[in-house]
Amino acid sequence: MSLARLVDVHTHVYLPRYAALLRSRTTLPRIITSSREGKPDDRLFILDRDTGRPVGSQYWDRDEKLKFMDRHGIDMSVVSSANPWLDFLPASEAQTLATQLNEDLEQYCADSPSLSPSLKRLYGFGLLPLVPEISTAALLEAIEQISKLSHLKGIIMGTRGLGKGLDSEDLDPVWAALEKSGLVVFLHPHYGVDVEAWGEKDNGHVLPLALGFPFETTIATTRLILAGVFDRFPSLRLLLAHSGGALPQLSSRLASCIEHDPVVASRLKHDARWYLGKLYFDAVAYGPEELGFVSDVISRSQRYEAGGSVPTNTAVDRALGSRRMLFGTDHPFFPPLQPTEKWKSVVENLQAIDAVTGWGQVEKDGVRGANALSLFNLV
Ligand code: URA
Ligand code: ZN
Repeated sequence: MSLARLVDVHTHVYLPRYAALLRSRTTLPRIITSSREGKPDDRLFILDRDTGRPVGSQYWDRDEKLKFMDRHGIDMSVVSSANPWLDFLPASEAQTLATQLNEDLEQYCADSPSLSPSLKRLYGFGLLPLVPEISTAALLEAIEQISKLSHLKGIIMGTRGLGKGLDSEDLDPVWAALEKSGLVVFLHPHYGVDVEAWGEKDNGHVLPLALGFPFETTIATTRLILAGVFDRFPSLRLLLAHSGGALPQLSSRLASCIEHDPVVASRLKHDARWYLGKLYFDAVAYGPEELGFVSDVISRSQRYEAGGSVPTNTAVDRALGSRRMLFGTDHPFFPPLQPTEKWKSVVENLQAIDAVTGWGQVEKDGVRGANALSLFNLV
């Protein structure tokens, strides 16, 4: 058994202040409280046409997070606010709440137990008031605030940006400030794709969560690549939720489509596949084949280092790609339906890491925690 650390980089919270806001609302997103057999029965409604899901203390109580971590052998977590963040608020409210929630999350982490003299068990991703009508100055202030809060190591971001998507040039000062700050940007979906795509059958949350979420991340990241964001801000550190969705699978097709579209091709400094080697991917994919494939695609990007040179057929070094992959759970989403000691969603992700062909102990320990310690500079 390895003594290496297990670090969860994809784990959420609705901080009490945010949960109170959701409870006070009469439109989406909201928490509706009713009572069942004399006990409060909270349900969370956040997605388009949401049928609701049970929500309880594991969504806001830090002790529950720590209990969950203990139960699964997780040493440290980098906790992020869950979707839909501040997206639905007017600018001034979003700005005030972002400041307060960043302070709340700092406290949530700072008061967590210590793992060693220099390490806490909890660190966090802060929030930007990224809504239409917000001023650039307000966004830069939030980045400055987060940079000064010592337990916040990054920010979590949805895909809407200032309303026009993340490829809007209006965000350039934000990317510049984030790059300079060294904060990790965790890109996370919420909206999925057009609900019309799901048809009329009642498939619960399956289609939006299994497909819509990852497709949204795929589209947003592709738009960032096409807008030249990684050419202009090469040191930006972007972590993609759900192993980058479908982007690894589609990256050669993307490269080919760009190649056949001279206007777009002339805008980019590199072959599309090169950019995937600059990104970080969580390992929330639930299967060893998928994790191995993503690590191949990341490794392969080095073949495009020269900027569009013809790739050689050298064997792909899977281990290299693993260094940009990081364990996550998506807690408190995907709880077990029946009470069990361990959550299947966690166990499956750990088993997947363990079973990737071509990853040795060093790579597995890296994905389980060492890569996170290094990415977030947790020493
Ligand atoms: N469902 C959500 O709404 N968010 C997550 O992060 C996971 C599942
Ligand atoms: Zn998530």
